[in-house]
Amino acid sequence: MNINYDELKKRIEAITDPGFDKPLGEVDGIKKLVIGPTGVAEMEIYLKDRARHEQEVKIKIIRLVKVELGFPGIKIDFFDSEFVPEGVKPIKYLAIASGKGGVGKSTVTANLAAALVRAKKRVGIVDADVYGASIPHVLEIATKPLKSTADEKMIPLEKDGIEVVSTEFFMPPEKPLMWRGPMLGKMLVHFFGGVKWNDAVDLVLIDLPPGTGDVALDVNRFVPKSKVLVVTTPHVNAAQIAIKAGLGAQQIGHEVIGVVENMSYYFNACNNTREYLFGSGGGADVAKKLGCELMESIPIGQPVDGGYVFSGKENAGKTYDSLAERVIDVMEI
Ligand SMILES: Nc1ncnc2c1ncn2[C@@H]1O[C@H](COP(=O)(O)OP(=O)(O)OP(=O)(O)O)[C@@H](O)[C@H]1O
Ligand SMILES: [Mg+2]
Repeated sequence: MNINYDELKKRIEAITDPGFDKPLGEVDGIKKLVIGPTGVAEMEIYLKDRARHEQEVKIKIIRLVKVELGFPGIKIDFFDSEFVPEGVKPIKYLAIASGKGGVGKSTVTANLAAALVRAKKRVGIVDADVYGASIPHVLEIATKPLKSTADEKMIPLEKDGIEVVSTEFFMPPEKPLMWRGPMLGKMLVHFFGGVKWNDAVDLVLIDLPPGTGDVALDVNRFVPKSKVLVVTTPHVNAAQIAIKAGLGAQQIGHEVIGVVENMSYYFNACNNTREYLFGSGGGADVAKKLGCELMESIPIGQPVDGGYVFSGKENAGKTYDSLAERVIDVMEI
């Protein structure tokens, strides 16, 4: 069969990018297309929600090129689409990472989200700690099954203006589910391509699990453009692991926008002094090693009205407000 280049191009352009539900030709989905000297068709294809749809599109292209058009060989490389349809705002993500567990990632995520809402921003949270979901608990969201849209996107639950998706919403309370690798992977696929956030959402925070392993890599696969905020405590152990987490993120191409030092000090109101119970310097050290700024130092303490989220009237709430200001600035939202 003697197929010319124009025919090949036209046929590939007509293949649908399921993420956009539009032909590749209309969404800038083909960046390279050549026929090599031995007749092999080589191409670079850019897809929306690549992790979800790559396999399906690959099969279609191979069938077209090899079976229908009779090319002797094919080489396809897939990339994440950067195409933004007119009138659509791309979702910005900020992952909260620490390496070490229990330093306050979830607390900082929830309080940063609340402060962003106070600053009139629209915020979502992906609770990516699929084994140890805690955002619903920290925000005190009553768990109920998520509803979905007609095109099968899940609709997040909302609390005080913060939209949330979490595995917790899929767990029957009395029966802990056994989450295995493939299931966990599937959940993240849905969290990063299958959520119907508010159309005007300004920022989606990702509450990562402790550790520097699998989930961080998965997040990288699904949201390669996510930026990262590193949380540490002043303690040297936490700082060292936070540095590892941050360097790991940088190595796979994420920008670390800053560091938050949590549980920095206890404010002793009796004599108006800051008591550094866990030592000091951890946050500054992490920021220096990662080449970014120490954005805030959060004191030890609980909200006066109970729960875990400070109001804007409390000092810790004000500290979160200035963290939110920095984040708004750096993330350009
Ligand atoms: N600044 C703070 N002052 C007092 N307690 C805090 C502070 N920050 C967090 N905590 C408490 O420390 C505990 C751990 O916090 P949190 O769950 O946010 O950490 P995490 O890093 O998300 O943990 P994990 O690694 O398990 O996900 C919680 O009980 C939380 O209420
Ligand atoms: Mg947590």
